[in-house]
Amino acid sequence: MPSVPAYSISADAVARERERSGGDLAALDLSKVLRADSLELREPGPGDVHLRILAVSVEHNIIHAGVADTVDIARLRGGKIYPGNSATAEVLAVGPAVTNFRPGDIVITHCNGGPDSYGFPKRIWAYDAEDSVGWYAKQAVVGAWQIIPAPLHSGLNLWEIAALPLRAPTAYHMWRRAIGIYRLKVPRERRARLNVLAFGGGVSELFLMLAASEGHRGFFCSGSAERRAALAARGIEGIDQQRFNRFAGRGDIRAFAEHTRKLTGGEQFHVVCDMLRGPVFDAGLAVAGRQSVNTSAGWQLAQQAAYNSTLLSVKQVTLDHVHYETIEGCAAATELYGSVFRPSVHSEIYTWEDLPRAHIEMHHNTQTGIPVVCIADELPESVKGIAPLS
Ligand SMILES: NC(=O)c1ccc[n+]([C@@H]2O[C@H](COP(=O)([O-])OP(=O)(O)OC[C@H]3O[C@@H](n4cnc5c(N)ncnc54)[C@H](OP(=O)(O)O)[C@@H]3O)[C@@H](O)[C@H]2O)c1
Repeated sequence: MPSVPAYSISADAVARERERSGGDLAALDLSKVLRADSLELREPGPGDVHLRILAVSVEHNIIHAGVADTVDIARLRGGKIYPGNSATAEVLAVGPAVTNFRPGDIVITHCNGGPDSYGFPKRIWAYDAEDSVGWYAKQAVVGAWQIIPAPLHSGLNLWEIAALPLRAPTAYHMWRRAIGIYRLKVPRERRARLNVLAFGGGVSELFLMLAASEGHRGFFCSGSAERRAALAARGIEGIDQQRFNRFAGRGDIRAFAEHTRKLTGGEQFHVVCDMLRGPVFDAGLAVAGRQSVNTSAGWQLAQQAAYNSTLLSVKQVTLDHVHYETIEGCAAATELYGSVFRPSVHSEIYTWEDLPRAHIEMHHNTQTGIPVVCIADELPESVKGIAPLS
């Protein structure tokens, strides 16, 4: 199999850049860490597919890998990883045992890196799944179990489809768990319409789209006016997080709770989605209503969280921790592209050469929507009509 251009992150580059930036993660230059490299594709087995990557979305876990703020995943994986766990691709060839895909099909990937006995991932593909090779590459060879037909007739354009393969299943799983847990406690006849709050970021936007599609009242607490405006157009109310200094002090959290008490007629929130933790976790708990559910699949600002167990018991608040969907759940989430999931994509569609810059801009939090990178030099005819120029 040929050697193809691919981006990699090496543990040595991470260490060098951490040293140069003096441990100041905000000053770390991701273009020194996420480097253009090459990758020798493995020989496809009978159950594999050979893909040409068309577009990928930029994911926050690559920032975590590049700055090594949670774990130093490149070192733990033996010194180097090939990242990229969300892609839209064209099938070039299929192994003899693959019956559900054929060359020319357009597909998306999921990042369930190997399910437990209940179907949920123990590891994430191209992050901590052993020997997993990611999709920030021109081509890839993966098992056919890892691809799903792309919903080309969903009404979304190619970049919107490419924004979703990782974030939509995460939001879908968080929502179906949160609503399930809440309904175990409070049946529909006692409270039909819930107040649902989510803090900043792509997954949270999709989580709120699910809640709104079922008739609930959604609130998006973010620092970005553009992202709040995009959700307001879908009936989801915005709360400016900057107005509360991103919850830097107790007084900011008190002011936030006072503001949301007025917004919700004193009831506060029945469901809270918090992908960030850190100060956001305290803010989310401060506005938790009785019987509420606080769900998270992220730890962008902190991995540790502390809470008052007595208080949460008295209010019967449930803290739920999510990793990622089952493979079947990823396919189910894909059914909702276009009807429920209509993502805001960042105004610039990045090119292959710009991929490190896209991560730098995500690290500096300057993007107005989910960032998407066009990887292919030339798009296939089947998607040219749904790929607007940025
Ligand atoms: N377990 C999983 O399967 C999974 C899947 C996806 C993501 N994640 C994790 O979840 C986290 C969020 O990912 P994502 O894809 O939803 O987000 P994202 O699109 O990468 O965006 C992160 C957002 O955080 C927002 N934010 C809100 N409050 C913030 C604060 N106090 N300080 C800094 N930023 C703040 C920023 O928006 P504003 O500036 O607009 O507020 C920014 O847009 C990441 O750590 C990611 O690794 C986990």
